[in-house]
Amino acid sequence: MSTSKSAEASSGKPGGKLDGKVVVITGAGGGLGAECARVLAGHGAAIAVVDIDLAGAQRVAGAIVEQGGQALALCTDVSDARQVEAMAATVAAHFGRIDVLYNNAAILTNEQRAGDRDVVNMDLGAWDRAMAVNLRGAMLCAKYVIPHILRAGGGSVMFATSGLGAQGDLTLSAYAASKAGVAMLAKSIAAQYGKQGLRSNAIQIGLVENPGHPLPPDIRQILLDNHLTPDLGKPRQLADIVAFLASDESSFITGHTLAADGGFSSHTPSMAAMRAYFAKVGSNSL
Ligand SMILES: NC(=O)c1ccc[n+]([C@@H]2O[C@H](COP(=O)([O-])OP(=O)(O)OC[C@H]3O[C@@H](n4cnc5c(N)ncnc54)[C@H](O)[C@@H]3O)[C@@H](O)[C@H]2O)c1
Repeated sequence: MSTSKSAEASSGKPGGKLDGKVVVITGAGGGLGAECARVLAGHGAAIAVVDIDLAGAQRVAGAIVEQGGQALALCTDVSDARQVEAMAATVAAHFGRIDVLYNNAAILTNEQRAGDRDVVNMDLGAWDRAMAVNLRGAMLCAKYVIPHILRAGGGSVMFATSGLGAQGDLTLSAYAASKAGVAMLAKSIAAQYGKQGLRSNAIQIGLVENPGHPLPPDIRQILLDNHLTPDLGKPRQLADIVAFLASDESSFITGHTLAADGGFSSHTPSMAAMRAYFAKVGSNSL
């Protein structure tokens, strides 16, 4: 683990709903995690921007500091217990406390996706990497960060999951199993530490467009047809939900999997095909 001196704390922004809170976000060097870091910092939180990609973490933390916020970039492989333990200790020493953990990091590289297929054709390395980063990594961050949150008097832990972690699909079997695992971990942690003021929830994310992972147009259209909202998700929409669950505004929500998915998981499997059928026959009644 190494830290970025250039991104160390400066003065925070007063008056936000996360004022005074210290938030650890894993995988925050890019993608949705980076937007969460920016938005939560805008609400007054000090952010530990944790990523295996130090340059990305430094960029995100540096931009927050430039805007007058507080951020610290840390290079940590979340699948490595020693690095995670050191990360948690460094954040607590630097900011004096930890209040919130968002387990956002996941391995989603093209190589990983190519190997993570249907079960018969599963590349075993891809299976092991998905479990190591997505599930073991989330557990390790919880294991080493939660004691700091409890010392601070309680707080909020969140896990990024996916519709694939709740319903069957044709490929990405390892990713799906790892995400089902983190949704369960959120409930175990809610049960174990709730009486000490710690809440734990999972966020079941629909398709949020990420320039780092552009979708082929045909696949984008299939997914859009199955969201009930006019558009696919935007990183800011997800970050607003993370800010809500991190804050005291959500103080009665724990042990929950919140679907932030534009209704992707809430309709009949035949709905999109029915919509196309009705459009073809010019009627909307059976
Ligand atoms: N984008 C979506 O539509 C979508 C949908 C459902 C769920 N999610 C979940 O949201 C989260 C963020 O997704 P994203 O689209 O921003 O992905 P992303 O690939 O853009 O970001 C993942 C981040 O995790 C980091 N990372 C990878 N391995 C790591 C490790 N071993 N240690 C530390 N950091 C590591 C990467 O460097 C990267 O910055 C993931 O958990 C993903 O499963 C995203």
